[in-house]
Amino acid sequence: MRHLLNIADLSPAEFHDLLAVAGYLKKRRNSGTPEHALGGKTLAMVFEKPSLRTRVSFELAATELGGSAMYIRGEELGIGVRETIEDVARVFGRMVHGIMARVFKHETVEGLAQHSGIPVVNGLSDYSHPCQAIGDFLTIKEQFGRIDGLRVVYIGDANNVCRSLAQACMLAGSTLVVACPQAYAFTAEDIRSFGPAWGKAVEQIHDPRAAVKGAHVLYTDVWTSMGQEAERAARLAAFQGYQINEALVALADASAKVMHCLPAHRGEEITHGAMECSQSVVFDQAENRLHAQKAVLRLLMGSEPERVIAAARGV
Ligand code: CP
Ligand code: NVA
Repeated sequence: MRHLLNIADLSPAEFHDLLAVAGYLKKRRNSGTPEHALGGKTLAMVFEKPSLRTRVSFELAATELGGSAMYIRGEELGIGVRETIEDVARVFGRMVHGIMARVFKHETVEGLAQHSGIPVVNGLSDYSHPCQAIGDFLTIKEQFGRIDGLRVVYIGDANNVCRSLAQACMLAGSTLVVACPQAYAFTAEDIRSFGPAWGKAVEQIHDPRAAVKGAHVLYTDVWTSMGQEAERAARLAAFQGYQINEALVALADASAKVMHCLPAHRGEEITHGAMECSQSVVFDQAENRLHAQKAVLRLLMGSEPERVIAAARGV
């Protein structure tokens, strides 16, 4: 693994190893074992959009691994405005050891990866949010003891988070059922572009009540993502009926888990009651971003990645 731009770029084995290393580093953190694998290394964190979880988890992950992280606002950097992406990437490559970038256009993370010569992690783009899907599947693995053979039901916008979740389901051997208004669903071409294994991994239907039958996970995200604010009114109207609420949760098995990547708009895509119900694991999910990000940095930037993989597989 050289960069992390999309979950679909990983092999199933790499995805399993990432989850194993994340779980391993979580146990070590909980037992107070210090880490040093990023000793002397610096992660540049570029944010063109706001963040709580991604920023805090990456900064803490770098620090707890013995390295450091610096926060840079997109406006300060002015990629393509102040200077070209090639020049920005090459300067980063001369100074730091890795880049994590949250960007509007997915091409920006691709450009950084192409020109920097150092590992680049996509911390959310308009296309995907791979770091979220790793934390999500760490949570799913903890809850179900496995990641395959599960029915993950996503209610809402087939957006960046949903796309990474779909790709993760594909690698995990689970199915993502997307319940979504037609106009906001994945196109067939989009799903095909995930790779050859997409066929069994993604089903799209329009009725959320039918979707949740037999679900192991009920998942949602905001209806209006960052950068889509001008579409908010149209989206609010289009997504009526696609809310995770107590009535919808009651249609699923009592063992089904409620998930949300956060931030949530309580009362829109999810109700307060569904967020706070006993089946909700949203704050485990949020915490697991830290352990997931640590695994990503450990494997991309850390010393002797094979050693931690071998140790994690043995856990
Ligand atoms: N889920 C997530 O990425 O949260 P932030 O936008 O707060 O980073
Ligand atoms: N789909 C959301 C996710 C935020 C973590 C967005 O892009 O704004």
